Amino acid sequence: MEIRRIGIIMNGVTGRMGTNQHLARSICAIIKQGGIQIGNDLIIMPEPILTGRRDYALKRLAETYGVEARGEAFAYTTDVQGALDGTYGDYEIFFDASGTLQRAKFVEMAVKAGKAIYCEKPTATETKEAVRIAKLVEDAGLKNGVVQDKLWLPGFRKLKMLKELGFFGNILSVKGDFGYWVFTGMDSDQPAQRPSWNYRAEDGGGMMIDMFCHWRYVIDNVFGPVKSLVAHGKTDIDTRRAEAGTPFACTADDSAYAMFLLEDGTMVQFNSSWCTRVRRDDLLTVQVDGDKGSAVAGLRDVVVQSAAETPKPVWNPDVPQTIDFFEGWTPVPDNLEYDNAFKIQWEEFIRHVVLDEPWRYSLMEGAKGVQLAELGMQSWKERCWVDVPEL
Ligand SMILES: NC(=O)c1ccc[n+]([C@@H]2O[C@H](COP(=O)([O-])OP(=O)(O)OC[C@H]3O[C@@H](n4cnc5c(N)ncnc54)[C@H](O)[C@@H]3O)[C@@H](O)[C@H]2O)c1
Repeated sequence: MEIRRIGIIMNGVTGRMGTNQHLARSICAIIKQGGIQIGNDLIIMPEPILTGRRDYALKRLAETYGVEARGEAFAYTTDVQGALDGTYGDYEIFFDASGTLQRAKFVEMAVKAGKAIYCEKPTATETKEAVRIAKLVEDAGLKNGVVQDKLWLPGFRKLKMLKELGFFGNILSVKGDFGYWVFTGMDSDQPAQRPSWNYRAEDGGGMMIDMFCHWRYVIDNVFGPVKSLVAHGKTDIDTRRAEAGTPFACTADDSAYAMFLLEDGTMVQFNSSWCTRVRRDDLLTVQVDGDKGSAVAGLRDVVVQSAAETPKPVWNPDVPQTIDFFEGWTPVPDNLEYDNAFKIQWEEFIRHVVLDEPWRYSLMEGAKGVQLAELGMQSWKERCWVDVPEL
């Protein structure tokens, strides 16, 4: 049995996504499970080096997670260029989960070093910039990818399966409801649960740039290509408190309402808000209505109602409702164990790099998400429908 090491520079790993999803639940989880087993002859074992700006924060992460995953601290350094240059050993992959506005600089550095490049979304806040860095990486002939984790959520996998099974018949419309209350930090003992830059446009924040990137690859991959959209954004809350304790003015949209018309005529709506209180099955629910059946997906669970099981409501507000509308749905069973979505995509990217297996979640695919966000902003500002051109 060959154990092949794959070196991964993990940059911006002290952040929320970097630590929780990428280090703990993906790379450490892969190490703990004994690597990625390929047939009977090969195991691919990730070897991370953690990079960032704060030495003490990196040291703490390297020790805590390294010892837990493999009994020995991971390597770490604040010298990102040195890590790329091979000063601290050979690392084939460069991964970036730093802030959106830092992405281009780090990707450019990794291109010069000839690394395979994987990074968080969005890759930029403007389409032109997202396409520029995607081309830069493509022209250098480097393997590359963008996080599109939602595709591996059990909820969306089940919807995809139902579509493939023909459960919906002809899909008529899709309704996505996303969001929850993000505390402003202004009230006593109610700290905010998301980083403050998300509410400042000048720091790369905003609901459209954040979530339309996700909606683009979800819609494209599960329902079909987007033809045009109309969107409206809003800054619902104008003052929040930052991590350091000082209030700041919110300059980014914290709610966004969009209709996406697909090439096949399907109407897809997504409401996204950080200023809504949840009274639905999950933080994201997606209802798909087809002429033969409907489904409502949460992040993990999906319920269905076929044409034959559809109750027949009659409008009469003068009497109490006789139908319990939540009763007439059947859960889709978990017929397999669903692994963490980020981890599955990491394993696919590593296999793509090491074994040359097919991969489609490139930086150019990621740029399409930035494009949808930018067109959403345009639609909002100009108050009109806009077409989605080919990139
Ligand atoms: N895939 C998803 O579902 C998802 C969810 C949330 C955020 N994200 C994306 O992940 C990225 C990080 O978001 P987050 O919520 O973890 O934010 P965060 O603020 O918690 O983390 C940002 C990280 O970048 C580092 N950083 C900032 N400026 C830097 C610089 N100049 N040089 C080096 N490092 C720098 C910070 O120290 C921190 O480690 C963003 O691009 C965000 O859009 C993706």
